[in-house]
Amino acid sequence: MINASAPAKIILVGEHAVVYGQPAIAIPVSSLRAYAHAAPNTGGLRIVAADLDETVPVNVDSVRVDKALDHALARTARLVLDRLHAPPPDQTITLRSDIPVASGLGSGAAVSAALARALASALGQPLDDAALNEIVYEVEKLHHGTPSGIDNTVVVYEQPIYFMRGEPMESISIGAPFTLLIADTGQGALTRIAVGDVRALFHAEPERIGLIVDEIGLLVRAARDYIERGDVKALGPLLTRNHALLQTLTVSSPDLDRLVQAALDAGALGAKLSGGGRGGTMIALVMPESASQVAQALTESGAVRVIESVVK
Ligand code: PMV
Repeated sequence: MINASAPAKIILVGEHAVVYGQPAIAIPVSSLRAYAHAAPNTGGLRIVAADLDETVPVNVDSVRVDKALDHALARTARLVLDRLHAPPPDQTITLRSDIPVASGLGSGAAVSAALARALASALGQPLDDAALNEIVYEVEKLHHGTPSGIDNTVVVYEQPIYFMRGEPMESISIGAPFTLLIADTGQGALTRIAVGDVRALFHAEPERIGLIVDEIGLLVRAARDYIERGDVKALGPLLTRNHALLQTLTVSSPDLDRLVQAALDAGALGAKLSGGGRGGTMIALVMPESASQVAQALTESGAVRVIESVVK
């Protein structure tokens, strides 16, 4: 019997600008996870997505990796089998996830990572993190088109990361623990579309958008310093400034803006949308003593779910 899992994630600062070569910081949310359970059967490899949006068992043999619209789960399995030069084993892999889909929490990457881990272990050839990261990145392309790679990296390594496209991942040391509230607008949004719109804006107005992207990069570097020094209070305003810059990039939404304002009014140190935007998730940095008050304000302002996560 084999069990594997992978966490959700949030982007603390730097989303969208990371697509243009700026750094971003991402953090795993270990309390929200995707799980994969492998058990022997007698009829080849079957993948059952028990409570995800997919309910149909997947037959890996019927799917080819080179087709653009391959099913993400089958593609994950195919990539693992190809990498390990293994035929599909007689195993049923059942997937389960606590992570809301299309909410900027990295659900797709976490499900792929859990599945790939379980399948490789069932084959007796566990994958190291670097190999797993490459596989999950390939699958992320189905969801995101041309992803920066930040989602798969934080989900696979499960540690706070400072990420620049094409560079080796750097881990961040946390100088003092800090508390985040993660609130879901309940509005699903496709990252691919927001990323495409920002690209169009960049092409239309390269100078103006270039300055915004550069400012986000500076802010991310400052955020890393504050995190490593444990200066939580100084980190807050950087998050709020990052939200304003993301608004200028047109990736916020009325729901996100309302939740950000509600968090700030209720005493958060800083707040911003997190991930692709246009819906999905926002985060608020809070002192532990004001967490419940800010969480209540978020719920009263329409958040469908608020999760508290301590980064340490
Ligand atoms: O998967 P999301 O919605 O958290 O967004 C990923 C972050 C972006 O910078 C918007 C896209 C990317 O590929 O980095």
